[in-house]
Amino acid sequence: MKQDMIVILDLGSTENTKLARDIREMGVYSEIYPHDITASELKELPNVKGIIINGGPNNVVDGSPIDVRPELYEAGYPVMAAGHNAAACERSIHSWDEADSDQVLRSFVFDTCKAQPNWNMKNFISDQVELIRQQVGDKKVLLALSGGVDSSVVAALLIKAIGKQLTCVHVNHGLMRKGESESVIDVFKNQMDANLVYVDAADRFLGKLAGVADPEQKRKIIGAEFICVFEEEARKLEGIEFLAQGTIYPDIVESGTKTAKVVKSHHNVGGLPEDLNFTLVEPLRQLFKDEVRACGLELGLPHSMVYRQPFPGPGLGVRCLGAITRERLEAVRESDAILREEFANAGLDKTVWQYFTIVPDFKSVGVRDNARCFDYPVIIRAVNTVDAMTASIERIDYDVLQRITDRILKEVKNVNRVCYDLSPKPTATIEWE
Ligand code: XMP
Repeated sequence: MKQDMIVILDLGSTENTKLARDIREMGVYSEIYPHDITASELKELPNVKGIIINGGPNNVVDGSPIDVRPELYEAGYPVMAAGHNAAACERSIHSWDEADSDQVLRSFVFDTCKAQPNWNMKNFISDQVELIRQQVGDKKVLLALSGGVDSSVVAALLIKAIGKQLTCVHVNHGLMRKGESESVIDVFKNQMDANLVYVDAADRFLGKLAGVADPEQKRKIIGAEFICVFEEEARKLEGIEFLAQGTIYPDIVESGTKTAKVVKSHHNVGGLPEDLNFTLVEPLRQLFKDEVRACGLELGLPHSMVYRQPFPGPGLGVRCLGAITRERLEAVRESDAILREEFANAGLDKTVWQYFTIVPDFKSVGVRDNARCFDYPVIIRAVNTVDAMTASIERIDYDVLQRITDRILKEVKNVNRVCYDLSPKPTATIEWE
């Protein structure tokens, strides 16, 4: 890292992440560290220009008061206390109140710490390329490339750094959206000339899932089978020492530091095949999601890949309710493709956070071609949210809904009704499981 850094010390404030983001938005790199970091640990960090002690309410975590080590005040860095407990921080040199926080923060970062605004994706990429080359040398790296934003950006970064020393494995579990595996192959194999192993494991996954209706059980099977397939592919490849992963900064912060509570545990498909003994390469571990996207664009990934909507690791498996069958899976995939196409035509892909279709495992009576039919419904869901913890319903124009409905009823087999889900989260969740 050549970039200047402001260190935020975590005294249990929920605002740490926002503060780090605010500083990065000023073009200065910032990271959160535990409150009890020692002066010598701090001195080992690259290019530290100043410290912000960001307190939780009264500096109390789990009932016990906490503070930073007094030696930090003597370590030679400018120190500022932030948060409502500023007065409680020992000997802090600067402090702010809420009213003028942006100006105070700017003045601390630029005037007091004299930090250079040199945090940008071009610099990040050139730093990481160098670091990856140093870490990996002439050895080989393996990456599970799902086609999601994080794994795609890791792949692009590693291709830039080490080219064919990277092998990407794309496992198609048969629960991908329409065109998704094709676009992974097109972008990475055809355009970026990557070493890409494509594994069509659809039959295998669907075989294991046959007759399984319980949502948690389905997730477990998909997760375990994914590891199994990935491991098999890894064992076929000779001499791989490193495993690349798309871990990003919120994964680290939300998984809990000493003083921050665990916000959510991660539930993606995959995980480490432990006995393979890989060393991890995690070049995005410092980035927030929007920075990952900016990095992807800078590396030349298509906008559609970088701004892809969130998609569960177990894929369409969570939207094909009950025991998955090929006919209902096909109905979810085709109706989802129509929904995405019509949302894009209406410009809604730029404003709506997440939208998809669900096919439940029950039928109802309808009429088609003057005859009784007994088919599945398709449910449309379109929600807006900031953090996926709560969500509101998008008010879709009636004409757009009508067009989507007409197309689904005409083009998707085994479907005779289309419904629109009006339930916010809570009480509903975003997905239907
Ligand atoms: P729920 O249904 O809990 O979903 O309201 C919240 C958000 O999480 C997404 N989701 C997942 N994301 N792996 C992911 O990366 C998963 O296994 C997974 N399951 C749900 C969901 O699409 C929504 O955006």
